[in-house]
Amino acid sequence: MCGIIGYIGYDNAKNVLIKGLKSLEYRGYDSAGIAVIKNNKCEITKCRGRVSALEEKVKNIEATAGVGHTRWATHGKVSDENSHPHKFGRVTLVHNGIIENYEALRDSLGIEKELKSETDSEVIAALIDRQYEKYQDCEKAIIESVKMLQGTFALAIIFDGESENIYATRNVSPIVCNQNEKGAYIASDIIAIGQYSRDYFVLPEMTVAKISKDKIEIKDFLGNEIKPKMLKLDWDINESTKGGYPFYMEKEICEQPKVLKKTIEKRVINSLPDFSEDNIDDGIFKNCRDISIIACGTAMHAGLIGKYLIENTCEIPVNVYMASEFIYSNPIINKDTLVICVSQSGETIDTLEALKYAQKKGAKSLAIVNVKGSSIARQSDFVIYTEAGPEIAVASTKAYTTQVAIFYLITARLAYIRGNLNYEGVTKFIDELEKLPNAAEDILNRKSEIHLLAKKLISSEHTFMIGRGLDYPSLLEASLKLKEISYIHSEAFASGELKHGTIALISKGTPVIALMTQRYLATKQMSNIKEVLSRKAEVITFIKKSLVSKDIKCDFALPDLDDDFMAVPSVIALQLLAYYVSSDKGLDVDKPRNLAKVVTVE
Ligand code: M6R
Repeated sequence: MCGIIGYIGYDNAKNVLIKGLKSLEYRGYDSAGIAVIKNNKCEITKCRGRVSALEEKVKNIEATAGVGHTRWATHGKVSDENSHPHKFGRVTLVHNGIIENYEALRDSLGIEKELKSETDSEVIAALIDRQYEKYQDCEKAIIESVKMLQGTFALAIIFDGESENIYATRNVSPIVCNQNEKGAYIASDIIAIGQYSRDYFVLPEMTVAKISKDKIEIKDFLGNEIKPKMLKLDWDINESTKGGYPFYMEKEICEQPKVLKKTIEKRVINSLPDFSEDNIDDGIFKNCRDISIIACGTAMHAGLIGKYLIENTCEIPVNVYMASEFIYSNPIINKDTLVICVSQSGETIDTLEALKYAQKKGAKSLAIVNVKGSSIARQSDFVIYTEAGPEIAVASTKAYTTQVAIFYLITARLAYIRGNLNYEGVTKFIDELEKLPNAAEDILNRKSEIHLLAKKLISSEHTFMIGRGLDYPSLLEASLKLKEISYIHSEAFASGELKHGTIALISKGTPVIALMTQRYLATKQMSNIKEVLSRKAEVITFIKKSLVSKDIKCDFALPDLDDDFMAVPSVIALQLLAYYVSSDKGLDVDKPRNLAKVVTVE
């Protein structure tokens, strides 16, 4: 959470910083600020609220170096004082992460009375300032300070009197760097600086970068020069614009036919699932006795679909863990366990820590990740990248469906090499998988029908969602979408479970969204729908076309696919429902309150 950026070069730093912060705003939008170097001194402008509020205040600034920050509050309330950058003595910095021992450091420095904010970050500035006093050397001051920090951090630092360089260092929290003839750039995400050069690198952890107009020097803490591994941006930076849509979320929902095709196509060779381009060793599939899927939020819901598919088709036991609980739940994993971590950003700290823990227990690991070169991708033994492209809206949509697509491919590969499906069985499975992009397109072509249904929910305070079998995890995801962007309380239930308590909440007019796509469960689901109808609930139904009958009215007919493949079309329809409820309520769909796209705090 929090986005940081830094620039030094021949352009006006203010423009680079503000533009970059706008694209990093998805990481947090409680406040924003920049610090630029002018006349060998640093000048800070910061305020609570969005980058657009800051932009107004910095209109007249001209400078050739600076750092910037957009905040998701952790330590200290949302206020001007707690906004970054923070300055102590001659040190000004921006910080992404959390310092666990900041109180002890603050007390040992005896600076409590001098601090202007409640943040852990200001203490880092004070620490570096003290070390500078001692060593009179910027790099040494940073290294000696960082050695004392416990926690996660990405820091961009400037020193009064040092106008030729900015500095960066990190532990866990990301920093990427690149350069062109106009200067050198650092940021939390390549999205903010990819337009300046497609060649970039991830700053190695526990190193310090000295960044000047024409070069970036990196040293480890022993003073050895480090050559970082260069990466190439392999998507068009224009993909990270709204492309004429009012919100990123709508654009990203509409991109699903294309990105599903891209994710699936490259992994199907001669009608068989194939991960050779991903360099996956089939041994991890052949030799595992059980699978543990670890993820958070939407990515965990993709994991629940994965569990359903793998257990049903391959008869391998699969556990799905919320990453935040994994380490503390005494998970039974060992060298025969395949751990699959799922993450759009590849930076979710809970998932990353869970992965490291599982590796220590001897498990083999595979990551399903969207952001190339991210921490989880680098940490895992193997990685399969979803081809969703940049996902900017906080509510995840195309990342989810492409994660689910990868689970179909993994299921097919597992089943093929372990003999659960023969050649005909696998090719039939893949044929059905290849129908997903068209099924997605079909729903998008009828999005106005879903818009009309959304109007029924706009003034609701609560909704319930009911479905059975594979429809239940799809509804967990649909319910999260509705909650996070429309602020309507929503709960998803396995339909049969409702009468064990929750049905007490259903009364006249309570909105209930019912999903029915599983043929073998259709009659049972119909009975469950009737149960809520007879309590006068306002039921909105999403039903697979071939299951539509005169017994239950169908509000939206979903395209016909085999039961196992309905997870994708169902969710796309319900993503649209959530989207229209939020946009019709006039909310900021892409930036829901209290949230951030990348969750780098535990
Ligand atoms: O980047 P990750 O996929 O690891 O993020 C995990 C969750 O924070 C994320 O899926 C979150 O639940 C979504 N933004 C919800 O739409």
